[in-house]
Amino acid sequence: MKAIILSGGKGTRLRPLTYTGAKQLVPVANKPILWYGIESIVAAGITDIGIIISPETGEEVKTKTGNGEQFGANITYILQDKPAGLAHAVKTARPFLGDSPFVMYLGDNLIQDRLSPLLNIFKEQHMDALIMLRPVPNPTAFGVAEVDSQGKVLRLVEKPKVPPSNLALVGIYFFDKSIHAAIDRIQPSARGELEITDAIQNLIDHNLHVEASQIEGWWLDTGKKDDLLSANQIILDTCLLQPVVAGNIDEKSQISGRVQVGEGSTLINCTVRGPVTIGKGCHLENCFIGPYSSIADQVHLVDVDVEHSVILQGAKISGIHQRIVDSVIGQRAQLHAAPPRPKALRFMIGDDCQIELT
Ligand code: TTP
Repeated sequence: MKAIILSGGKGTRLRPLTYTGAKQLVPVANKPILWYGIESIVAAGITDIGIIISPETGEEVKTKTGNGEQFGANITYILQDKPAGLAHAVKTARPFLGDSPFVMYLGDNLIQDRLSPLLNIFKEQHMDALIMLRPVPNPTAFGVAEVDSQGKVLRLVEKPKVPPSNLALVGIYFFDKSIHAAIDRIQPSARGELEITDAIQNLIDHNLHVEASQIEGWWLDTGKKDDLLSANQIILDTCLLQPVVAGNIDEKSQISGRVQVGEGSTLINCTVRGPVTIGKGCHLENCFIGPYSSIADQVHLVDVDVEHSVILQGAKISGIHQRIVDSVIGQRAQLHAAPPRPKALRFMIGDDCQIELT
C-alpha cells in the first residue's frame, strides 16, 4: 500500500498567502496542515509516500518537509508541471504508484477519523475505490454523491446546482490500480481539469466495486481563510492538551487555560487565555492574546490585542488598540500604529489583501 498527498494546485482561494508560499504549508496550530496528513497516513502503517508538488511552491514543500525521516516515512517528491486536476496528479504519480493500491490525500484537508479502519475495509472487500462522505449544509460547493439505501454510490456530481444529497466527497480516497484505466478513459471537464469525480464515476459506469463510508469526526479543508480559522480552532481544541511554557514570562504576565509558549520567546506584561499556541523566538509586550490564536515563530507584538487569529512567522504588529479578531496575518507582514491613537491610516497593501475596519 502506498500513499500520495496532493500538494500542488493553484491555491487561488487563499491569496495573497499563496502568492509567496504553498497553502499546504500554512500552519494550523503552528504546524503545516500537510504534516497532519503525513502523520495520519504513517499512523495507518503506510510509509511509502509520494508528495505531488508544483513548480512554483515545490521547493518550499521539499525543504520544509524533507525526506520523511522525521515522520518515520520515505517521501518521494513528484513534480506536476501544471495544476491540471486531481486525476491529472494521479496520472503524474503513475511511475511512483506502479500497480500498488494507494490512499490519495488532498494536502489541504484533514479528517479526525483514523485511516486504518477504512484501510482495512478497503483491503478486506477488494474494492476498486473507497470514498469518504460527510453531510454538509452547502453541498453545491462540493463534489456530491448520490447513494442508495445500502450506501452504494450511484452517481457523483461536481458542484451541482441541484444537489442529489447533502453528502460531500471528502478529500481522502482509497484506490486500486483500476483507477488508472478509468483516468485514461475520461476527458478534461468544462474547467479544463481531469476530475477525480469523473474517474470514480467511470469506475461506477464500468460496474467496478466502488463504496462509500460516512465519516463521523470533523473534516477540515483549509483552502479558504474562514476554513483555515475554523481548522485552527478545532485543532487547538482537540490537539493542544498539554500546556508547555518554555519561554520567559515576566511576573506581570498572566497565563490561563491551555497555552504553549516556545523556547526563546519573551512575554512582558501580557495576558494570555488559552487555547493559544505561541512559537519560538517571539517577543510579546503589553498584549492580550485571546482564545484560538496561533502565533508562529519570531513574531513581534507590542501593544496589541489578538483573538481567534493566525499570525504567521516573522510578522510584526504594534500599537493597534482595536482588537484583532478572525484574522490571518501573513509571514513578515508589518502593521504599526503611532501612539496615542492614529489620526490617519497609511497603507501599502498588496493585490488580493482584505482589510476590514469595523
Ligand atoms: P483544490 O483546493 O481543489 O485546488 P487548488 O489548490 O488549485 O485551489 P483553488 O481552488 O483555491 O485555486 O486542490 C485540492 C488539493 O489538491 C490541494 O492541496 C492542491 C492539490 N492539487 C494538486 O496537487 N494538483 C492539481 O492539479 C490540483 C487541481 C490540486
